[in-house]
Parts: sequence; structure tokens; C-alpha cells
Amino acid sequence: MSDRYAVIGRPINHTKSPLIHGLFAEASGQALEYGAMEGRLDEFERQVLSFRDEGGRGMNITAPFKLRAFELADWRSERAQLARAANALKFEGGSIVAENFDGIGLLRDIEENLGEPLRGARVLVLGAGGAVRGALLPFLQAEPRELVIANRDMAKAMALSDEINHPLLRISRYEALEGLGFDIVVNATSASLTGELPPLPQGALAQARLAYELAYGKGLTPFLRIAQGQGVTRLADGVGMLVEQAAEAFAWWRGVRPETRAVIDRLTIPLE
Ligand code: ATR
Repeated sequence: MSDRYAVIGRPINHTKSPLIHGLFAEASGQALEYGAMEGRLDEFERQVLSFRDEGGRGMNITAPFKLRAFELADWRSERAQLARAANALKFEGGSIVAENFDGIGLLRDIEENLGEPLRGARVLVLGAGGAVRGALLPFLQAEPRELVIANRDMAKAMALSDEINHPLLRISRYEALEGLGFDIVVNATSASLTGELPPLPQGALAQARLAYELAYGKGLTPFLRIAQGQGVTRLADGVGMLVEQAAEAFAWWRGVRPETRAVIDRLTIPLE
């Protein structure tokens, strides 16, 4: 029987993970099965343990279970600890190991697929929630010139910055971004899920080379429209991040790094 993996979340019907991992397996000649499982709010832990006990080798975790998966694990990587969330689990000799590849997936997409190295760049990240927690460590390790986090709720941003306590990291109110210039701007708020726009001051994107929207498949969100209007040449959504985080998990589980380009092309939904 081939090795079994699955993604668990609620809802789960829109997940692209079985398609992505199926394409990776096919291209790399790995024999594995990858399914999708609807998580139950009162049974999540039991579902994971049953999957493991029935011979499962690993799982991807999506909303709303990333924190519970992190807590269920016996071992947690540093980036999972900082994110306080797991998006991938590996079952190893009776232990559960937690990882978080969301941030590294985003970094790889920006640097390798979009050709914008973070090293030396002025980077602005909007939001201070779970998505940002996952991205901070890989972003800081890439040595930007500065990393500014803007959030409406300053107490949340401050708590995050105190926890990380890194000389390149700064927090800012949205209003205080007026007149500042950034090379790369990432919208990691959940605003686009409801068609809203973070309260960015006029011109905050004017010098940017890349505007990156974390949401996938939402087309030209209000954030990307503003970026386009301010002349940002490169607009991207989260399709590359989605595929790159999957490639990291695949490499972690299988010891083989899959090619991502063809899979990204296949999943890309044109922005307009
Ligand atoms: P996630 O895990 O997806 O990051 P989260 O932890 O709920 O979700 O965080 C959502 C983030 O989106 C927060 O940073 C939130 O800002 P506040 O902390 O100030 O509330 C941000 N957010 C959501 N809607 C927004 C909007 N319309 N404008 C700006 N920021 C928004």
C-alpha cells in the first residue's frame, strides 16, 4: 500500500492540496495517496490520531485547526513555535512533529518565482495576525533593510514585536506610513476576504516594485487595485505561496524537492 497523507480543515471542499501533492507525486515518481478530510470541531484531535494510527504518514492542517494541531504535537519547529500554529504534521515513530511552512513558502515565492530578493529591501507587511506570525522569522532571516508591520490594533502589533525583539523589525500605525517608501508590500490582513481595503495612506505604495496579496484566487482585490493605480509594476496573489508551502511539506515528508513552476502555472487564476 502506498504512503498516506491528507489535508484536514473546515470547510475543506475548496482545498487545492490533493491536486498539488498529486502533481508533485506524479512528477517525482513517488507512490503516495493524498486525501482531504473535513475536520470536526469537537473531534479534531481524535481524527488526527486515528489517521496516524491507521498508518497515515503526515497531514496538512488548514483553518481553523492550525493552533490545535500545534498543541497536539510532541515536537515543534522554531518557526511553528513563533507562528504558534502548525500547517504540516509528520508522524514519526509514534511522535507527532509540527512544522509551519507558510512563511517560508511566501518567502520562496517572492524571492525565487517573482525574482525580488528581500535582502536589503524595504519591506512593509500589513496585518499582525497568524499569517504574519508565520512569515516573520523567514523574512527576518532573509535580512531586509527594514521590516515594518502596520496594523490597526497597535497593541497586537506591539506584543508581536516585543516577542520577536529584532533590530530590523518596526511597527507602525497606518497613518504614519504617509510619505515612506517601500520596495515590497505584502497584504497579510484578512481584509481581502471581505472585499475590504486596509487603511493605507495615499502614496504608500508609490515606490513599490511588488505588491503581494496573500489571498489566492480573489482576482484584483482592493489592495491590488490601489497598487496598480499607484503604478506598482508587479502584482501577485498567493498562488505561488500555496504551491511553495506544499513543496516544503512534500520535501520534508519524502526527502525529494518537487518542481513547482508547472504546478503554479496550472493553478494560476489571472488577476483580471
Ligand atoms: P490571520 O490568521 O488570517 O492572520 P487573524 O489572526 O484574525 O487572521 O488576523 C487578521 C489580521 O487582518 C489582523 O491583523 C487584522 O487587523 P487588526 O488586528 O487590526 O484587527 C487584519 N484585518 C482584518 N480586516 C482588516 C481591514 N479591513 N483592514 C485592515 N486590517 C484588517
